[in-house]
Amino acid sequence: MTVLARGIIARWADRLALSPHAPHISLGEGDTPCVESLSIGPSLGLASLHFKLEGMNPTGSFKDRGMVVAVAAALHEGSRAIICASTGNTSASAAAYGGRFGLRTVVVVPQGHIASGKLVQARVHGATVVSVKGGFDVALRIVRELCERHPVTLVNSVNPHRIEGQKTAAFEIVDELGDAPDVLALPVGNAGNITAYWRGFREDHRDGRASRLPRMFGGQASGAAPLVLGRPVDDPQTVATAIRIGNPASWQGAIEARDQSEGMIASVDDAAILDAQRRLARLEGIFCEPASAAALAVLERAISEGTVAKGTHAVCVLTGNGLKDPGAVEAALTPILEVPADAGALARAIEV
Ligand code: F0G
Repeated sequence: MTVLARGIIARWADRLALSPHAPHISLGEGDTPCVESLSIGPSLGLASLHFKLEGMNPTGSFKDRGMVVAVAAALHEGSRAIICASTGNTSASAAAYGGRFGLRTVVVVPQGHIASGKLVQARVHGATVVSVKGGFDVALRIVRELCERHPVTLVNSVNPHRIEGQKTAAFEIVDELGDAPDVLALPVGNAGNITAYWRGFREDHRDGRASRLPRMFGGQASGAAPLVLGRPVDDPQTVATAIRIGNPASWQGAIEARDQSEGMIASVDDAAILDAQRRLARLEGIFCEPASAAALAVLERAISEGTVAKGTHAVCVLTGNGLKDPGAVEAALTPILEVPADAGALARAIEV
């Protein structure tokens, strides 16, 4: 049987800071679609708008890019167990890769603030799920402490292999568009992903694969916007539970990405996030989770404030799949029509 090499390690091995002796494992992550906007981009006056559909990764979020590299390194180092704190997606990804490659997986999540699909994913893949009172920041603090004392590998984005893996999304965008865009917009929570994209684009620019660098636009939820306020937030709140984070671990990386790229990190409120999520679904056929929609909401804010000019080539990173969190949209859905099993009644109900 011929097994085609798939996944980001096989494709980008020479560009990852990973031992050449680490196993080339994969669950088919990466190579996600970069879909051109048909409706929202033109209505904003952009020259082009593409959506990078990171919800198409194996566990439904961008986390798989970094997780596959972190797990490959853990296996290479002889680790038997991995652990992470998570607002949901990292835990789903760790559980899937941990299960597939025979590592005990423990995930620590904030009680009561995890989308139902993500929690189910962690459990169905066989992880030990622990919930703690307090938010993500508390969970991250205790898993970091635990890893200092016990032989368990931390797979949060403070693990450098995570950032290395995630930068490959920038390489793919440059491949797909033939160059870097003028603007890249993405949601910011723990700030690993904005750090990773900025590194990826800089490397492509240095290597001559891209002629320019994008300006980086980060969206934070207004109730969880430490990077906008310039100080940690004690009790972050937002409908976008994935980015409900008050003290991002990669704070410095986010500030560098913003300042070196002459970009912006701005807050968008929950109503703007949910509105962007709804329009992506209805007008573009793309169902992303609320946090992901913060990418579009921040881009729209930047355009309305004149920070991003019309005629710009922009990419929004849609970080996670909407199916993970149906509860976030349910209240705003149109009611289901109920009809008797009769074609006439159906015709009247749908007014044809
Ligand atoms: N979008 C989604 C869907 C996420 O799950 C996350 C982070 C982000 C954006 C923000 O990325 O943290 O690199 O700035 N989720 C983490 C988790 C925190 O535990 O799943 P970031």
